[in-house]
Amino acid sequence: MIVGIDFGTVNSSVSFIDDDLKPQIIVNERGVRLTPSVVYFKNSEEVIVGEIAKSQRLVKPEQTILLVKRKIGEDYKYNIFECEYSPPEIASFIFRKLKQYASDYLNKEINQAVITVPAYFDDNQRQGVLLAAKLAGMEVVKLLNEPTAAALAYNLDPTIDQNVLVLDFGGGTFDLTLLNSHNGIYKVLSTKGNTNLGGIDFDKVIVDWILDTIKKKDGIDLSNDTVALQQIWNAAEKAKIDLSSVEETNIVIPYIAINENGPYHINITLTRGRFENLSINLLFKAKKLILEVLKDANLTPDQIDKVILAGGTSRIPAFKKTIKNIFEKSEILGTINPDEVVALGAAVQAGIIEGKLQNIELKDIVSHTLGILNDDGQFVPIIEKGTFYPTSSTKMFTNTRDNQNSVIIKVLQEHNDNLIELGNLEYVSEFYWRKEEANISVTFYIDINGVLKVIAEDLDHGNKKELNLKNPFLELRNINIEEKKKFLEKINVL
Ligand SMILES: Nc1ncnc2c1ncn2[C@@H]1O[C@H](COP(=O)(O)OP(=O)(O)OP(=O)(O)O)[C@@H](O)[C@H]1O
Ligand SMILES: [Mg+2]
Repeated sequence: MIVGIDFGTVNSSVSFIDDDLKPQIIVNERGVRLTPSVVYFKNSEEVIVGEIAKSQRLVKPEQTILLVKRKIGEDYKYNIFECEYSPPEIASFIFRKLKQYASDYLNKEINQAVITVPAYFDDNQRQGVLLAAKLAGMEVVKLLNEPTAAALAYNLDPTIDQNVLVLDFGGGTFDLTLLNSHNGIYKVLSTKGNTNLGGIDFDKVIVDWILDTIKKKDGIDLSNDTVALQQIWNAAEKAKIDLSSVEETNIVIPYIAINENGPYHINITLTRGRFENLSINLLFKAKKLILEVLKDANLTPDQIDKVILAGGTSRIPAFKKTIKNIFEKSEILGTINPDEVVALGAAVQAGIIEGKLQNIELKDIVSHTLGILNDDGQFVPIIEKGTFYPTSSTKMFTNTRDNQNSVIIKVLQEHNDNLIELGNLEYVSEFYWRKEEANISVTFYIDINGVLKVIAEDLDHGNKKELNLKNPFLELRNINIEEKKKFLEKINVL
């Protein structure tokens, strides 16, 4: 059986298609539908994933890892019990946990999954998720873009010609996808996203406000007290969630510090209005992205038939108000629990792949332009942002000097107006070329997961070479995946 996995910044969940062909969320051993994406190292042989791990962040912050999804695809190391772990290695513990409780619940070993990723995830980030799953012994049947998953969960009729905007405002990312359905096919018209805009940023404005208020009011500065800060972060998130249903909330944290007057307790009131003022910049950023995604597709708000709200942060009333103001005429869909809609869509995709559900054809687009650096140091795009995938594209290159027998191909990707290097391929020929004699074709392939493969070929001599972009960070350290997997398997996941 193939399950669906929503690997979230803050929470993860697993889903499946039940006997009535309905997508369902699997509850974990605590009977809860969302499992915090938090990993706590109890010692060097045992890790705990989920709710208990989250509660340890107060007590043992140096052994607790939060928000690993934000680091996936980066050259970053966590140092725990004198051992280094890359973000995919940490994420693999989360996948092992999800795999375990899904297998227990379904009473069979689960090894295959559809895993969702933000539409805006670049090649390194997608590779990072694939690696994490592999290290957890999971075969990824498909990496599905999160907003596309949300549209699948709503089971929108693809034969109707309509424009659907999916807004997935989660814990760490805000992802926007504009879909058009027509003749039974969903096409992604444009995507936008900010991998650093999410619920945590709303928590942060409250944290800063609390620190500022107690400093002004009582002269207490807790900005460098890590244990106190953790408690403040918890209280801030709780206050934010409260303010989605009530107009004001009390933030009470007893015994947070001691000063000359004895124990110090935080007891302040935050109103929804004040919170909305504090978050004005974040809401502005969100609105700007919405207008940009429409502009990229040359559409106005009036041309959007439906707006799907996904992600816990979409529950913030000021955000909902912003949406209603922009989309006065559109139907706003929010009946499916926004924390679960992505996972449910992943189950639908799994059901389609297994042949249990009717196929809906989905065409996603590349979210970053990919290309190479030529000898003059200029970026030459090979696959443009907005191209449907799977796809491939080829460009010809030559050498620039006499007596040359090798060329270096640098593969780059545009990311927020910067160029990020994805890898290098040195093509060495048995023959020496005169200046501009070589005929090297460079082909970029993007597979169904949005993952890139690059092949260079000397057309005169027929030699091919593939650039291995896979798992760049492990390769840097020359580590073999199977060995790494064996090493990680020695660590128990509870
Ligand atoms: N009622 C609520 N009001 C405001 N925010 C909420 C509410 N419920 C949950 N959240 C926030 O939603 C966020 C979690 O959302 P969700 O579970 O969709 O994120 P995620 O899938 O883990 O993250 P991402 O999709 O960014 O990777 C948290 O920041 C949480 O505080
Ligand atoms: Mg999410």
